[in-house]
Amino acid sequence: MKHRELARVRSTQYAIRSTTRLVGLLGWPVAHSLSPRMHNAAYAALGLDWAYLPLPVAPGRVGDAVRGLAALGFAGANVTVPHKEAVLPFLDELTPVAQAIAAVNTIVVRPDGSLLGDNTDGAGFMADLGEHGLEVGRGRAQTSADKVITQDHSRSSAFIRVQSVVVLGAGGAARGVAYALAQAGADVTIANRTLDKAQALCQTMIAALPQAAGRVLAARWPDDLPALAAKATLIVNTTSLGLHEGDPLPWDAAIPFRPGQVVYDLIYNRPTELLALARAGGATAIPGLGMLIHQGALAAALWTGHDAGELARWMRKELETS
Ligand code: ATR
Repeated sequence: MKHRELARVRSTQYAIRSTTRLVGLLGWPVAHSLSPRMHNAAYAALGLDWAYLPLPVAPGRVGDAVRGLAALGFAGANVTVPHKEAVLPFLDELTPVAQAIAAVNTIVVRPDGSLLGDNTDGAGFMADLGEHGLEVGRGRAQTSADKVITQDHSRSSAFIRVQSVVVLGAGGAARGVAYALAQAGADVTIANRTLDKAQALCQTMIAALPQAAGRVLAARWPDDLPALAAKATLIVNTTSLGLHEGDPLPWDAAIPFRPGQVVYDLIYNRPTELLALARAGGATAIPGLGMLIHQGALAAALWTGHDAGELARWMRKELETS
């Protein structure tokens, strides 16, 4: 396609009219985010008259920004670092999951102007695990239907049941992931450099999910990693280690990964050393791009009423083709 034609198509795709429904991303900073691109591409592909705007909001202005959403006619917003907890006092209602993990990544402006806080991070993570052929918790036994779905699945080569999980880190990114895993029935050990934070997260989760008592434990990072590595099927990095080249590993390089294990790194901006170590040991290595896509698609489904799977397909297409 000629350059001028491409420019014309792009400008048509992202045209904002008086009828356009608006959503956006509240964060600080937001310039690096892939969300506007993937949302706008999916809306355009599906013929939805919606636009997704980056909304940089300085710390200290969060209340003004959240209250302004309804006044400005926004249908909702995503919330990212560092505002996921700060928005809570300005919302009218929280979904059970947002309440349980005390963090919101999606705000829905309801028809009466009231604000609902939700969190699609954990569900997005679980959706991506499913897409890679992973089933969490004891659940039902594998049936022939599962096999058909698994074999038919373009992204998964084998069906893996996950019971024992190690979550590396106990910060904001760990919450949604650990909660979703515990809710699905996994045994979850949260290994963190600061043990107190891992213990506090366990207590928060057990308070919200009493059925998970005994299945959610805190451990010392890195001292307890050898023992945890021996039994874990899934290891999830939620720490910030790996975001930048030259970062130390969030793991101990002397502990090899092995075939049958899955290592999931929430980091998606670069190929991390952790995932390289996983591959070297014969483990399955999964970067966090799929989680980004699915949490976004689930949020967009809440706002637009459109099918999350279809939104996710277009978002993936946009991010994978450039
Ligand atoms: P986020 O909201 O993105 O999860 P965070 O709340 O700052 O960010 O949490 C970062 C996580 O990475 C924490 O679990 C942190 O461990 P501590 O609780 O001990 O601070 C972990 N982390 C960051 N830098 C680390 C390092 N150099 N070594 C080990 N863990 C680190």
